[in-house]
Amino acid sequence: MQTQIISTGFEDDAKDAVRQAADLLRAGEIVALPTETVYGLAADAFNAAAVAKVFEAKERPSFDPLIVHLPKPSALEEVADLPEEIAGPVKKILNKFWPGPLTIILPKKDTIPDIVTSGQPTVAVRHSKDPVFKRVIKEVGGPLAAPSANRFGSISPTSAAAVEEELGGRIPLIVDGGACSEGLESTIIRVEAAEPKSRIFILRAGPITKEDLREFGKVEFAPRLSPDDGQPEAPGQLASHYSPRTPLRLLESPNDFKPEDGKRYALLSYRNQPKDGYLELTEYEKIAVLSPGSGKLPEAAVRFFFLLRELDESGVDEIIAEPIPNRGLGVAIRDRLSRAAYSTVE
Ligand code: TXA
Ligand code: MG
Repeated sequence: MQTQIISTGFEDDAKDAVRQAADLLRAGEIVALPTETVYGLAADAFNAAAVAKVFEAKERPSFDPLIVHLPKPSALEEVADLPEEIAGPVKKILNKFWPGPLTIILPKKDTIPDIVTSGQPTVAVRHSKDPVFKRVIKEVGGPLAAPSANRFGSISPTSAAAVEEELGGRIPLIVDGGACSEGLESTIIRVEAAEPKSRIFILRAGPITKEDLREFGKVEFAPRLSPDDGQPEAPGQLASHYSPRTPLRLLESPNDFKPEDGKRYALLSYRNQPKDGYLELTEYEKIAVLSPGSGKLPEAAVRFFFLLRELDESGVDEIIAEPIPNRGLGVAIRDRLSRAAYSTVE
C-alpha cells in the first residue's frame, strides 16, 4: 500500500488533509493524525471492522484496548456512563483538563464495539486539543478510536516522519501536523468514590501530573506489574515498552558504569552538565541532550521520543540514559525510560 503524507502548513493543504482524512475515516479506513501528545492511528470507534485494521497495522495484541477520542466533551454520553457517585469530581476534572492530554476510564456503553475495549466493561476516553485533530474529528462527527501510531511495543511517534518509519506502507494516509507539543502520551486516570475525598488512580503517568490532580482528590499511582505478575490495570502498560532496537541502560549512578572495549555507546543526557558525571564516562559516538543547559522537564518531555528514536538509528551498540528528576513531568519521562530499558535489565 502506498502511504500518502499531507502537510497542514498552509491552509489549502490543511483543508485538503482534513477532507481526505475524514472521507477515509467515514469509509472505514485508518489514518494517522497528530495529537498534542503523540501521533495517533485513528479509526471510526463505532466501526469494528475499521478498528480491526488498527490492531492489524500496529500488530497490536487483541488484549490491549484503544483510547476513544471525542469530537466534543458532551459526546462522552455516547460512549460511556458517568456513575452518579463519581460524577461530581469527574466533571470538575474534565472541565479543567479537556481538551488536553488526560484520558479517563469509565464504564462503557454498548455503542462501543468490544474490540475497542478488548472485551473490558470500561472504555478509555480523551478529548484532544490538537487543532488539526480537532478539525478532522469534527468533520467525521463521531468518536475515533486512536492508539499511538507505532508498531506494538515500539517508540511512540512525535512527528509524521516517525509515523512513516513505523507504519509506512501499511496505512493509506498520514496527516502531518508538525511536531507534537507535549511529546508524551496522555495521563490515564480512574476515579473512585471515597469519603472525605474521592480517590484518583494514575494508570499511566503523563503530561497532567500527580501535582495537577491533587486538588480533585487523593491521588495515587496504580501499582505497576511486570509481565510475570499478570496483567497491569492498563493492559498496554507492560513493563517492557517503548523499546528501541538498540539496548538501553538507565544508569541511576555514573559510578555503576564500566565501558566494554570495542563497544560503541550513545548517551541520552538530561541537561549536558559535566557535574552530573555522565559526559566523561566514555567516548560516546553520539550524545543527545533532552534539555540543554537548563534541565527543564517540559522541554525534555517534548524531545524525549524524538531523541530516543534518533539514538536508536545511530547504529551504536548501547544507549546509556541519565536518570531524570522524579517529580512533576519527570515521573512520566522516567516511566518511559524504565520501560524502554526493561528488556536489557539483567
Ligand atoms: O496520548 C495518548 O493517549 C495517545 C494519543 C494518540 O491519544 N494514545 C495512546 O494510545 O497512547 P495507546 O493505545 O498507545 O495507549 C493506550 C493505553 C494502553 O496502555 C491501554 O492499555 C490503556 O490505554 N487502556 C485503553 N483502554 C483501557 C481501559 N478500558 N482500561 C484500562 N486501560 C485502558
Ligand atoms: Mg502506545
